[in-house]
Amino acid sequence: MLLGPLIRHQTEDSKIGMDVRFIGHSAQIRMSLTARHDFGEWRVELKPDEGTRNVKRVGVLGASGAVGEVMVRLLEQRAFPLASVKFLASPRSAGKTITFAGEKHPIIAVSDKEFEGLDIILSSTPASISKETSPAAARAGAVVIDNSSAWRMDPTVPLVVPEVNPQDIDWNKGIIANPNCSTIQMVVALKPIHDKYKIKRIVVSTYQAVSGAGQKGMSELDAQTRALIAGTPEPAPSKFAHPIAFNCVAQIDDFLDSGYTKEEMKMVYETRKIMGDPAIQVQPTCIRVPVVNSHSESILIECERPITPDDARALWSNSPGVCLQDDFRNRQYPDPRSADGRDEVFVGRIRQDLGNPNAILFWCVSDNLRKGAALNAVQIAETLIARGL
Ligand SMILES: NC(=O)c1ccc[n+]([C@@H]2O[C@H](COP(=O)([O-])OP(=O)(O)OC[C@H]3O[C@@H](n4cnc5c(N)ncnc54)[C@H](OP(=O)(O)O)[C@@H]3O)[C@@H](O)[C@H]2O)c1
Repeated sequence: MLLGPLIRHQTEDSKIGMDVRFIGHSAQIRMSLTARHDFGEWRVELKPDEGTRNVKRVGVLGASGAVGEVMVRLLEQRAFPLASVKFLASPRSAGKTITFAGEKHPIIAVSDKEFEGLDIILSSTPASISKETSPAAARAGAVVIDNSSAWRMDPTVPLVVPEVNPQDIDWNKGIIANPNCSTIQMVVALKPIHDKYKIKRIVVSTYQAVSGAGQKGMSELDAQTRALIAGTPEPAPSKFAHPIAFNCVAQIDDFLDSGYTKEEMKMVYETRKIMGDPAIQVQPTCIRVPVVNSHSESILIECERPITPDDARALWSNSPGVCLQDDFRNRQYPDPRSADGRDEVFVGRIRQDLGNPNAILFWCVSDNLRKGAALNAVQIAETLIARGL
């Protein structure tokens, strides 16, 4: 990282200035290191130069997890303006390494002192961990972009999808929440329709991939599928309520007394907060299916005024983050395997409601680990920088 050369100069008040040239993986970054001899102690300060204020010292917390791994790859692929990068996880991962931009980096066990000197932390731990780590990181001066559900409904924390409500980033107080994966892809598709036709009601059924339940979710589908094909005893469900191989499970997260699950109610509350419309009605049913990655959703929307499939196509053909795949005569429509590894929210099977001229139905698919989690978080960080925060 430190390539030199170092240019030293001595100033009158015994302050020694040094210009140090750092090379990040994607950007050449100029930093200044100032050492001051102060009452017998040396104090050292390292700051990006004026011209490179927008390069950030980034921490990835949960770097060993399903979302964390994708965040690491996205920082590389998108040439994120990095001054430095640090990978953090639980003590279980300490000592493992992550190869980033051709260099091996250690995974460090998280502790409050590891947040010192970081500008942005992309966090993807369980919510119970984020409740402790996110405030500590914010106190240390970083902005935390958190993938867990810990802060999403906190009124002092913005919940952001950059295509929908980038302006909410401005009032962050050190924590920005990344929404639930099924909500993100839905609101990216709904935003342009809502702006023009004002959506009153959404009926959504999800077909959610096992990667939404992290590394353990993917391992469970893999182990059960292999056992059933080999004719050996099937491992008991642990991450899911019932066997997931060759099955569908009509439960994601815990049930509430209403009979809805927590996952379903996340779609209700988060959609209202992101869209800034507390009146919008959401009727969700969330289902886990034996797909490795990418969530699919069947969505019906009812608007305040008439809308046709062509009206919606016209908007979606020109909406940020949306890709139309809508040619049923040629069997063109989205599917989770082709959405895997892609950034877009794919939309197709657009149809008129059979009885209501104000309503349309469509099918919406997106990579839950990318747009549903890691990509959205990295885009929030990019928007944060673009807005000069
Ligand atoms: N998967 C998705 O599609 C998705 C979408 C949106 C949001 N999310 C949310 O993102 C978060 C991470 O999900 P995931 O799917 O990536 O889960 P995961 O694969 O289980 O990864 C969890 C990560 O958290 C770390 N972690 C666990 N306990 C920790 C502790 N005590 N201290 C520090 N780090 C700890 C793990 O580190 P070790 O490996 O060292 O244990 C691992 O890096 C969750 O809150 C989830 O709800 C996930």
